[in-house]
Amino acid sequence: MRTEQPKMIYLKDYQAPDYLIDETHLTFELFEDHSLVHAQLVMRRNPERGAGLPPLVLDGQQLELLSVNLADQPLTDADYQLTDSHLTVQPKSETFTLDTTVKIHPETNTALEGLYKSSGMFCTQCEAEGFRKITYYLDRPDVMSVFTTTVIAEQHSYPVLLSNGNPIASGPGEDGRHWATWEDPFKKPAYLFALVAGDLWCVEDSFTTMTNREVALRIYVEPENIDKCQHAMTSLKKSMRWDEETYGREYDLDIFMIVAVNDFNMGAMENKGLNIFNSSAVLARAETATDAAHQRVEAIVAHEYFHNWSGNRVTCRDWFQLSLKEGFTVFRDSGFSADMNSATVKRIQDVAYLRTHQFAEDAGPMAHAVRPDSFIEISNFYTLTVYEKGSEVVGMIHTLLGAEGFRKGSDLYFDRHDGQAVTCDDFIKAMEDANGADLSQFKRWYSQAGTPRLAVSEAYDAAAKTYSLTFRQSCPPTPDKVEKLPFVIPVALGLLDGQGAGIALRLTGEATAGDTSRVISVTEAEQTFTFVDIAEKPLPSLLRGFSAPVKLSFPYSRDQLMFLMQHDSDGFNRWDAGQQLAVQVLQELIGQHQAGQPLKLDQRLIDALRTVLSDERLDQAMV
Ligand code: SER
Ligand code: ZN
Repeated sequence: MRTEQPKMIYLKDYQAPDYLIDETHLTFELFEDHSLVHAQLVMRRNPERGAGLPPLVLDGQQLELLSVNLADQPLTDADYQLTDSHLTVQPKSETFTLDTTVKIHPETNTALEGLYKSSGMFCTQCEAEGFRKITYYLDRPDVMSVFTTTVIAEQHSYPVLLSNGNPIASGPGEDGRHWATWEDPFKKPAYLFALVAGDLWCVEDSFTTMTNREVALRIYVEPENIDKCQHAMTSLKKSMRWDEETYGREYDLDIFMIVAVNDFNMGAMENKGLNIFNSSAVLARAETATDAAHQRVEAIVAHEYFHNWSGNRVTCRDWFQLSLKEGFTVFRDSGFSADMNSATVKRIQDVAYLRTHQFAEDAGPMAHAVRPDSFIEISNFYTLTVYEKGSEVVGMIHTLLGAEGFRKGSDLYFDRHDGQAVTCDDFIKAMEDANGADLSQFKRWYSQAGTPRLAVSEAYDAAAKTYSLTFRQSCPPTPDKVEKLPFVIPVALGLLDGQGAGIALRLTGEATAGDTSRVISVTEAEQTFTFVDIAEKPLPSLLRGFSAPVKLSFPYSRDQLMFLMQHDSDGFNRWDAGQQLAVQVLQELIGQHQAGQPLKLDQRLIDALRTVLSDERLDQAMV
């Protein structure tokens, strides 16, 4: 029985590791009733942590330790301490090697964490803390190492032997066994380690990168699924091109592989060079899969591929920073899907999902910040808040800095931190430095949970020809905090005249009028913006494209909602106006029904729908 109490871990207690692992050499001997893992770690004292040689405490769970050598000397039981979760040894020098051999049982591992078997194949899932179930290690993302992996298994049942990086050697072994060695030249944390051994077929293709390097692409599946991989392969090539064009990010290894696995806890996992997917996120055939299923595969393939830069080349310092890689990568895959399909429909889908699920999380007992301050179990934090709200937060930075400014910031972030394990603060700092911007107040989005409310009211002064919008923001209490400080809320907006055309916008104090759509930043609890030269009372289109993850309220009448649905240049707000109008009409019908009256459908909803349906210039997917 485990008697230890679950321990709360705090962000404020973060300390850099005492030791670093420069090289990790692994050899796996896979058998039907057990597996052996030999690990040679080339280690050194972390110079950041000062002088002296503290004990080396390695993580390890459910491992049977068969041998341990420190600096080539075998250790006896008296030379180390072993518990359920740690192996502790005492280094004698600043640099040393540590060799261990452990026995593990992938064949009975039903937690699907660490090394396990699924439908006769061996595979791994190490994020967040699964690697400690494979071997003794410093299983934390800020320990980045170069990995070499040799896999040895019976040839007939496991003809395919894969790991991260590039294949460097392979050959036959004894007793019908064979082996393959993989080398990953890029430093990575252990959570990105992967191994696959099985009887798999693959679809092959290749991609020529922006600097004319040829990359082999392979998607491995069980033989019966070989005809369902083409869409994932096409999606992969589109993702690789898009990341070059949109973010200037080139793929780095000679080979990129995806493996489909039937038993998998998450959608997919971005292991370096060897993504492992739940089969449902890879397989699709035009004849049998829906459009939505195709788009899901495309989005997940892209998401995992994009992690190669946002997550792998630049990784997280600790698990509190999970949104650093996940929020940013969700933002990146949303941008990709928007470019591949209808941008408006993609935005509508993302916002509908956020409002339905993440807003509910934010309003409930599990509400937590995008970057939590504490956790007991990191596996519980792969949440809608970390992923989807995290993506909205990155999206707001994009909105505030503009596409070019954002790209400058992301270039600086990748250049500055390539090969490092960093924090959300480092991401923000790169965005600030590249743009000369101050995002200090904006950072509250990372630390305050809850969905802000934004109530908007208007005032038109016909004599002065001014139109004022007053914004009041508030945020309900959440378990972490009762009192919230004001957020920076970017509000994209436009003002429509009586014909539905956008009015060129000029705020008091500005010399000239600008575009008909602009972004204003609401930074105070209550703030008024006054537009000048407004000849008639306009109709505001607020929070265009859902420019911030807030609950907006404005007292629109049904006529106004109909008008927005018919005329707003912003597709998202047209849809949103349509939703609000339809809900009001439905509520009215329900009232009529309850009062025993005949049902009378509001003609305005029909007219608005007719306008949209008959306008062939509009994005047809949005229509
Ligand atoms: N890191 C994985 C992903 O988000 C976990 O699901 O892709
Ligand atoms: Zn991810």
